[in-house]
Amino acid sequence: MSKKIASARITETSSQLLQELNNSLPFDKVLYREDIEGSRAHAFMLSEQGIISKDDYEKIENGLVEIYEEIESGKFKLDGDDEDIHMAIEVRLTEKIGDAGKRLHTARSRNDQVALDFRLFVQKNSQVIANLLLQNIETLIKVANKNITTLLPGMTHLQHAQPINFGYHMMAYASMFKRDYERFISSYERNNYSPIGCAALAGTPHTINRQTTSERLGFKEPTLNCLDTVSDRDFGLEILFNISTMMMHMSRLSEELILWSASEFRFITLSDKHATGSSIMPQKKNPDIPELLRGKTGRVNGNLISLLTVMKGLPLAYNKDMQEDKEGVFDSVKTALLSLQVLNEMIDEMQVNSENMEKACMIGHLSATDLADYLVKNVGIPFRDAYHITGNVVNVAETKGLDISELTLDDLQSVDARIDEGVVALLDNRASMNARQSEGGTSTIRTQEQIEKLTLWVASQR
Ligand code: ARG
Repeated sequence: MSKKIASARITETSSQLLQELNNSLPFDKVLYREDIEGSRAHAFMLSEQGIISKDDYEKIENGLVEIYEEIESGKFKLDGDDEDIHMAIEVRLTEKIGDAGKRLHTARSRNDQVALDFRLFVQKNSQVIANLLLQNIETLIKVANKNITTLLPGMTHLQHAQPINFGYHMMAYASMFKRDYERFISSYERNNYSPIGCAALAGTPHTINRQTTSERLGFKEPTLNCLDTVSDRDFGLEILFNISTMMMHMSRLSEELILWSASEFRFITLSDKHATGSSIMPQKKNPDIPELLRGKTGRVNGNLISLLTVMKGLPLAYNKDMQEDKEGVFDSVKTALLSLQVLNEMIDEMQVNSENMEKACMIGHLSATDLADYLVKNVGIPFRDAYHITGNVVNVAETKGLDISELTLDDLQSVDARIDEGVVALLDNRASMNARQSEGGTSTIRTQEQIEKLTLWVASQR
């Protein structure tokens, strides 16, 4: 039990239980890089402003660099009973350089310090996640490119609906990841303001220069209002929401990979690297990896709801409740980084079983809409009538045990004599897929166009 350096009016040493509840060092120690980076910028500014001497600044600067190396090399373990990472580093600095170390905290509070460290962490990781998203988009584009003519039953309600191509399906996920990427980038821009120099809540009487620290730390400019800044965790909520949305997309893709791996589908085969066996059933190959990605989505959603709940109802400005902001964010970031890397590898290495996809297109009369559309466009039959005629054609096919694309002109005309020769070729599934040439549609040409556009966009982001 230690007498805390940040407890001027607390005379008794704190109880073990208090420390267990209160100390955040066990988890906020991961912020040591950001804490040291922030302190170096703050000390530089203090010396530039003449608030501390050049001599003290040099001691602080060298001391902080040494502490950084001590932590990196494992010499300074960050497992003491200091309250948090900020105190641990300040205590170590003062041990090393004496009084100069005690001057570092001039014109700053742990409230703006933690707001800075945490924000730096979120900003850095938003960029790393965004880059991994770009990589995943490229991989999806690569798979799409190889499969622009691979027929796949497009579904609604998980029922066969219309023929599409597998590349088009992959491009749907690439489009989701593009939005996710943009969300991380826009959050980065929105939150790119420096909190340091706000002190406890109201600013400081010292003649600091927040522009200096902001610039040195790579922010756009200092935040506007100190009271807001020390109590703002929107940036943490944004990264949590962005991760949740991204993981929700990943979970939907995972769900399809799981389904497609099932014997009933066999549309894809995951590489052995991304599947596991069963402890009792020797024949099993289980899609554990996409299952875990789907499962991890629950966990990141929990982190988002936790922080939203912590923040609701907090009066201005800093409250210790806010110490609960970090673990969920650390956990979601770690989950996102790992999941994105695994997904990328899995998509890159999965085998696409195009024959099975094409075979499945012969179930469910996928081109039925094409017959109705033809009757409207070429024979002048009102859509609702054409819809019913097509329904009857489907019944004929069912009775014969055939797919609509396998019917002869005679079969079709047995339902309605107005049906002419021209439609027969259109009922072929590939023709049906290629008929959807409207912008954003599934035809091979339009899919190719989407691939080209997204490829250009990826290049513009690099
Ligand atoms: N460990 C604290 C946190 O994570 C740092 C800020 C403490 N500020 C204070 N006034 N007690 O939020």
